[in-house]
Amino acid sequence: MGFLGFTMFLCLLSVARSQEAMDIDIDLLPRALIIEYPETRLKNTSEELHMQCTSWRVAGESNNLSPWRTVPVECGDYVKAYMLGRSYYFDLEMVSKEAGGYAKSLQLKEDGMDAWIFDIDETLLSNLPYYSDHGFGLEVFDSDQFDKWVLEGVAPVIEPTLKLYEDVLKLGIKIILLTGRTEDKRNVTATNLMNVGCRKWDQLILRGDNDQGKPAIAFKSEKRKEIMMEGFRIIGNSGDQWSDLVGTSTASRSFKLSNPMYHIP
Ligand SMILES: *[C@@H]1O[C@H](CO)[C@@H](O)[C@H](O)[C@H]1NC(C)=O
Ligand SMILES: *[C@@H]1O[C@H](CO)[C@@H](O)[C@H](O)[C@H]1NC(C)=O
Repeated sequence: MGFLGFTMFLCLLSVARSQEAMDIDIDLLPRALIIEYPETRLKNTSEELHMQCTSWRVAGESNNLSPWRTVPVECGDYVKAYMLGRSYYFDLEMVSKEAGGYAKSLQLKEDGMDAWIFDIDETLLSNLPYYSDHGFGLEVFDSDQFDKWVLEGVAPVIEPTLKLYEDVLKLGIKIILLTGRTEDKRNVTATNLMNVGCRKWDQLILRGDNDQGKPAIAFKSEKRKEIMMEGFRIIGNSGDQWSDLVGTSTASRSFKLSNPMYHIP
């Protein structure tokens, strides 16, 4: 049961209880936006809501919610505060440090065939300026609007991932960028990346004509397979979506970056 399902379940439960007592017409009751606990337990509504939204976010991050379409309306302010506050940054930094420590711990071969895959959106480049104009995930994704933003080529870098990128490069690991962006965005994507400090990579793989309509998991798995067929050992993979990381031909280790704003199946 998702968060909303759970909310509805509790609402129905309380409706069922009050109905026993007063015989109320269910259809006439207003729909509660927050969970209705018995009053004795409702110490502080905003604290309860905060905890509920944290549960929703953690369930999303751990891939227990999949698939979900938009941020629950009750959690809009929560997600906004998370994205703009320091928590998001700390979460990204933690993952970046773990990944960097792992990369440094490896005994790399000297054939130059160790590779690290980076996703782009919400991994290396941040679309937060776009999402701050579109409700931080409250709105259903609009690909036309989003494309316009991408074509501006002004997405800021995600600093903790850039740090990992530089550490990985220094170790002599090849960088492969694998994105769901389409071929027609190659130039703007490369230019945007270079402008924010990602200057060197071995391959930039975008969705080509043959990849249209493929779910992200299938597209990225296929591309990883091709990378492996070229002789690369994919020792690490960084992405903000589970569909960047799971499937087949997976990396030795995958690192999931936080993203409570949207889910790509
Ligand atoms: C409820 O919790 C919030 C956040 O912790 C706090 O700002 C607010 O003052 C609290 N309200 C009450 C009535 O205790
Ligand atoms: C993008 O296109 C312009 C104009 O064709 C070209 O000068 C530039 O080198 C291209 N940039 C990249 C990163 O490919």
